[in-house]
This record gives sequence, structure tokens and C-alpha cells, in this order.
Amino acid sequence: MNGRVKVGIIGSQFEADIHAASFQMAPEEAEVVAVASPTPGHAEALAGRYGIPRVFTDYRQMLLEKDIGLVTIAAPNYLHARMTLDCARAGKHVVCEKPLSMTLEEADEMLEVCRREGVLLLYAEELFFTPKYVKAKEMAAQGAFGRVYLVKQSEKHFGPHSPWFWDVERSGGGVFMDMGCHGIAFCHWFLDRSSIRSVYCQMGTYVHRDKTQGEDDSLCILEFENGAVGLVENSWARRGGMDDRVEVHGEGGVTYANLHMGNALPTYSEYGYGYAVEKAPGTKGWSYPVFEELWNYGFPQEMRHFARCVRGKEEPAATGEDGRVVMEALYAGYASAARGGKINLPFRPRNVKKPIDLWLGNPSAG
Ligand SMILES: NC(=O)c1ccc[n+]([C@@H]2O[C@H](COP(=O)([O-])OP(=O)(O)OC[C@H]3O[C@@H](n4cnc5c(N)ncnc54)[C@H](O)[C@@H]3O)[C@@H](O)[C@H]2O)c1
Repeated sequence: MNGRVKVGIIGSQFEADIHAASFQMAPEEAEVVAVASPTPGHAEALAGRYGIPRVFTDYRQMLLEKDIGLVTIAAPNYLHARMTLDCARAGKHVVCEKPLSMTLEEADEMLEVCRREGVLLLYAEELFFTPKYVKAKEMAAQGAFGRVYLVKQSEKHFGPHSPWFWDVERSGGGVFMDMGCHGIAFCHWFLDRSSIRSVYCQMGTYVHRDKTQGEDDSLCILEFENGAVGLVENSWARRGGMDDRVEVHGEGGVTYANLHMGNALPTYSEYGYGYAVEKAPGTKGWSYPVFEELWNYGFPQEMRHFARCVRGKEEPAATGEDGRVVMEALYAGYASAARGGKINLPFRPRNVKKPIDLWLGNPSAG
């Protein structure tokens, strides 16, 4: 593809805003020309903030626009598969937000249809682009830690911003589905995509039983083919704003990466100020404001890379296949939490409508 990629965004709220802001930081590669979202006024508001010329309430109308080469999906999880298939059949390359889908069958169909239609299925896992985490991976590749035997990734806050996350019919699960997908993808990527051999999970609903059937805290241990272990910790029950961190342990060394606090300005304010960090409850007293939050996460780098993939300048570094690996581990994790033992992969139970069904109905479930 010659020239800048013309992008359409599906969704207009939290993540859609991040997509729009990120593409705006790569003006030499991409231009967002359209946004589609069903609630009247919402897409207009996003378009107004970022100077996006075309606005749609039905994303399928947006897909009729011939000049759009890439569509990003920033809509609730249960819509990812249907939207991806519609985009692919309209000949658009796709960036799909995490988690890839609700079921493994959907994931397989998404991969198959995108392959058949000759479009890229790019998986929006920004942790592959997070500068601090990329640095840790580069150091591992240079032998800094010797043989890596343990990789930890943890992401925690006090719960999501939108009602659909709390509704397992639309989200597919609680915090493990929502943020465990990041940690699983991260460990798999960090370990050079060594296959996952087994998954063990413990989870519960400790704080938000009034809001959701989903788990609000989860611990997950992954065993990899290369002998290393991944430990993924997630919570919607942790107070104090977003916390995202990584540890890498090898026989020859260790590194600790704290994404937010490590880059923040430890601050005390009697009066408060505008904004500290994602999901922080306030700015009075002690707080840890983060600068260049999107860049620290890697979102602009991720979207620039995806645009360059569409232009044939780079090979995709985060694909639908990565998303599918994560989906299988999510299935295994929920089943493991229900059974109380580790689950060996491959693991492909039939007739699963959403991953959390493998856990709900068990005594440990919320
Ligand atoms: N990569 C990350 O770190 C990250 C962070 C947050 C969210 N996400 C993912 O992004 C996706 C969206 O989450 P969010 O936080 O933006 O949610 P949100 O509730 O803030 O926004 C959802 C958007 O989807 C739109 N939508 C709903 N039904 C639609 C339809 N039929 N057609 C078109 N648009 C529709 C809504 O109007 C809204 O604009 C989810 O899959 C979520 O897991 C990823």
C-alpha cells in the first residue's frame, strides 16, 4: 500500500480514544478518517477531539468506505469476532483489541477468514511494545539474566470503567479474561513464544460480588515447553489506581520493571490537581502522576507498527495467532480454578460459550 494508511475506528470511548491519540502520533504512517459507534453523539465527540472527518453510527456503513485500509476494533469483547469477520469480508485489515474473542471456535474462524480474505489480523497487545518491557526482553536476549526460569507479570486496579466489563455475557469473564490475557501474552512473548504446557489458576470474587459474577482476583501459573514458568497476577480489587509490573528471574540475574510507579513523580498535594494515572481515585495527598502515559504503555508504538505492517514495511509482531494462544490458556485457567489442579495443553473443551463458564457453577465461583 502506497501512502498513509487510512484508518477507521469502531468504538468511541476508552480504548478508541487511545487508538485515535496513538495514530495521531504517527502522522507519517496513518490517518484516522472515520469512527463508528452506536450511541448518538459519542462518535461525533471523538471525531471532534481528533479532527476525524467521517462519523457513523453503524460500523457496517463505515466498512463500505473504499479508501479505508485498516479498521481497529475497540468494542466490547463479545463483538470482536463478528466485527472482525465483517471487516475481513469488506477487505479491511483488522486490529482487534484484547482478548481476541469469546471462544476458541470464534478465534479459529477469525484467523481462517482473515487468511482467506488476504487481510492482516493484528492483535492489540500493547505490552509487546511497552518500552520498559521491550528493554527487559532485549537484555534477556543479550544474555543478561542467563537462563530465564521465571517471568512475572501483574496488572491490578479497582475495577473497570464501563458496565459491560462486569457482565460476563458481554465480557466473557472477570479480571482474568480482562487483564490475565495481557500477562499470558506477555510471558509467552517474553519466552520467545515457547509453547504453554500447562496452566494452574486460583481465583475468587472477594470485593465486587454485588457487581459481577466474574472473578475479581486471579493467580495463574503457566509452565512453558522450554522449562520456564510464568506467574500472572491480576486484580480488580486493588485500590489506588492502575498498577502494572514485570519481573524476570534467570540463573544469572534479575530485573524488576514497574511500569507506572517506576516512571512517576512521587507527589504530595494538599489541594489536588488534574490527573495522575489511569483509574487513580484522586490527586489529593500522596499520588504518583505518570508523564507520557500512552508512550510508556507503548500504544503509539503499537499503532505505528500496525500501520507499517499494512504498508508492507514491517512484519506483524502481534497477531491473531498470539490472541488464540491466549484464549486457550484462558480456557485452561478457568477450568483449572474450577477443578483445583493444573490443566495440560492442548485443551479444547466443546460447547463453551464463554471462558468463565468453565469456572462458574463451581463452589469457588462468585
Ligand atoms: N489494550 C488495553 O490495554 C485495553 C484497555 C482497555 C480496553 N481494552 C479493550 O478494548 C475494547 C473496548 O473497551 P473500552 O474500554 O474502550 O470499552 P468502553 O465501554 O469504554 O467502549 C466501548 C465502545 O464500544 C462501542 N460499541 C458497543 N457496541 C457497539 C457496536 N455494536 N458497534 C460499534 N461500537 C459499539 C461503544 O459505543 C463504546 O464506544 C475491549 O475489548 C477491551 O478489552 C483494551
